[in-house]
Amino acid sequence: MGKTIIISNRLPVQLEISNGTINAIPSVGGLATGMKSVHSDGDSLWIGWSGLVEEDISEELEPKIDQALAEHGSSKVQLTKEDIDGFYYGFSNRTIWPLFHYFMEYTEFEWDSWESYQAVNQKFADAIVEKADPDDTIWVHDYQLMLVPQLVREQLPDISIGFFLHIPFPSYEIFRTLPWRKEILEGLLGSDLIGFHTYDYERHFLSSVRRLLGLEVSFNDIYYEDRMVEVDSFPMGIDYKKFSETAAKHANRKEEELSELQKRLNLHKNLSPDAKFLLSIDRLDYTKGIAKRLNAFEYFLNKYPQYKEKVRLIILAVPSRSNVPQYQLLKREVDELVGRINGEFATVNWTPIWYFYRSMPFENLIDLYTTCDIAWLTPIRDGMNLVAKEYIATRTDRSGVLILSEMAGSANEMNEALLINPNNFEEIADTLDRAINMPLEEQKSRNAVLQKRLERYNVENWAKDFMGSLTEQGQKEKSYVARRLSVDLMNIVLNDFQDAERRLLFLDYDGTLAGFHNDPQKAGPDDELYDLLDSLNALPNTDLYLVSGRDKETFSKWFQPKGYNMIVEHGVWISRDGEDFKMLENVKKDWMSKIRPVLESFVDRTPGSFIEEKNYSLAWHYRKTDPDFGQKRAAELNTVLRSLIANDDLSVLNGNKVMEIKSSNVNKGRATMRVFAEKEYDFVFAIGDDWTDEFMFQELPPSAVTVKVGRQKTQARYFLDSIKNVRGLLSRFVMNT
Ligand code: ADP
Ligand code: G6P
Repeated sequence: MGKTIIISNRLPVQLEISNGTINAIPSVGGLATGMKSVHSDGDSLWIGWSGLVEEDISEELEPKIDQALAEHGSSKVQLTKEDIDGFYYGFSNRTIWPLFHYFMEYTEFEWDSWESYQAVNQKFADAIVEKADPDDTIWVHDYQLMLVPQLVREQLPDISIGFFLHIPFPSYEIFRTLPWRKEILEGLLGSDLIGFHTYDYERHFLSSVRRLLGLEVSFNDIYYEDRMVEVDSFPMGIDYKKFSETAAKHANRKEEELSELQKRLNLHKNLSPDAKFLLSIDRLDYTKGIAKRLNAFEYFLNKYPQYKEKVRLIILAVPSRSNVPQYQLLKREVDELVGRINGEFATVNWTPIWYFYRSMPFENLIDLYTTCDIAWLTPIRDGMNLVAKEYIATRTDRSGVLILSEMAGSANEMNEALLINPNNFEEIADTLDRAINMPLEEQKSRNAVLQKRLERYNVENWAKDFMGSLTEQGQKEKSYVARRLSVDLMNIVLNDFQDAERRLLFLDYDGTLAGFHNDPQKAGPDDELYDLLDSLNALPNTDLYLVSGRDKETFSKWFQPKGYNMIVEHGVWISRDGEDFKMLENVKKDWMSKIRPVLESFVDRTPGSFIEEKNYSLAWHYRKTDPDFGQKRAAELNTVLRSLIANDDLSVLNGNKVMEIKSSNVNKGRATMRVFAEKEYDFVFAIGDDWTDEFMFQELPPSAVTVKVGRQKTQARYFLDSIKNVRGLLSRFVMNT
């Protein structure tokens, strides 16, 4: 087992130089605090930015910096001041951060900062490649490094790469406004596994992949180039034990062991024992809704004046990204609001808001969590929000009320909290009133459930879960790789082909020999294909059959003059050597009048879809529809059809963006088996791309060489990735004979 390389912009510590000495300060933010616990447990190396720029690092300081980072199992990526301006303050925090949090009005699209983002992502990728051994696992984190997976994949094609996004992934409607949307998606798809906090973020990502890259997605697997990428949600947990144990320790401290902050808090608690402390902790970020929360607090004091002198709001705001103008404006706004509200409501004995603008040591954070009766967290949009989880973990006596915004990822798992819409001041004011008056028993019963859940799915289990899925994904990939028609396997197949006395070839058409076209009539064969089929058909001792779901008129037009053998409409008709089509199966078509109106109603309700009417089957095509919508409608149609055809001898075939209804006794498997039984063959080959071809793969004898085009689940023995490869293989049949 190799090591794990964690890679993120922030390291667990940030370095600062003062008077020639280096100080390591713990980084704030969910990513750094969460990953810190995972990192300290195992054999891992953490690569990231030290917090210092290249220009500040002299030659003699460099080894000291490396040493300081090595003490935290970390190694640095050297960034210049220009990198930080373009990549960090620019693209990461003026483009991606606001866009992904739905703050379109703050989003800037600057070409220069995009270039810097690309260049810095390359630096991170190079740093990984320099440190990585082939059996290592690479775990890339967050929105600053979305190009890294693909950049690493280019240099280390077989290494295992996971990516986790710690912020929301926005809906397609928002994401598509990004000029570099495709590049970002392709960058992420270099991973084997991509993780999100919630199912909604995962869903949004898959939708963008489908719509913008047109890739095939099956459940949560994406088929990309010659790999399969898995996407899943893993809600990040906290180091529960650390928070609950420290809180328990704090509860047993003697007076002289208390921190200054705790002493001050106790003093005020003792002065007015029935007053409630409300706590709000965040980085000073516009996504956290701090200004809105202050306005809502003012609204609450006006609506419920009885709480004047009875509540105190403690706001802890950690300085963050202060070079970005929006953060500077926010700082000013919050300062002014706190001043105004305190000025408006303060009495000689009471200041309604205590405001701290700084980072605090862990011990002080625990003091605040354990002392405050209510945690009030109202982000406008937040990937997860770990503070909410930390507050609950520290409530060792199970008292305390959590008021949490529905817009935080953590709200999905914390239903027992009081969930609010951060834009609804009326609801917020009433919820504060409810929280202040919540009976202790109710607090305890809500927190008991929350604590149990948080304790079980802690950050360690979160990381284990992610890494477990990544390993599994690697194994799944390997099982595909084993079946790929590699050069070696292909040579064996070619030898068997050459040595055979009588050969039988079944070739599907659409998606196998020719690509899809929005209009099926336009997907006719090109000259290269005609030449290839002519040569194959002319081979001695070789029976070639085109096997298709297409109607016989189209195939007559395209292939009859060529004299190829053809089986069409999934096995209803057969034509040999250019003769007229004959029926292979006796099939009924009286059911069509019943099914056609149903399909028509789906065409009416699904723009872009249409019906193809064949002699013995009806097909509903949805290739031209919006992919998500088309898929949804297809699922709906499937349910409707299955109930309608229950008593008929009909079956529904789910093809590639097409659903086809036809008699059950007709399929490509039955048809090809009939042909196979006619003569003695010692080489049988069948190739196809979709569900309808699976009948051939299932029915033909195990000795047959069956090949699937694409990576979906299949009964075929081998797979090939593309039409180009299919044509390549068939040309070698011709050349080697
Ligand atoms: P984000 O990642 O957006 O900053 P989270 O709530 O997920 O938001 O994570 C914030 C993390 O930073 C928490 O683990 C919290 O303990 C820590 N933190 C928040 N405020 C402070 C502070 N004033 N001092 C030190 N750490 C803090
Ligand atoms: C969020 C992001 C992290 C980031 C943290 C602090 O949690 O998801 O990637 O590290 O905020 O922000 P900063 O810009 O200081 O790294």
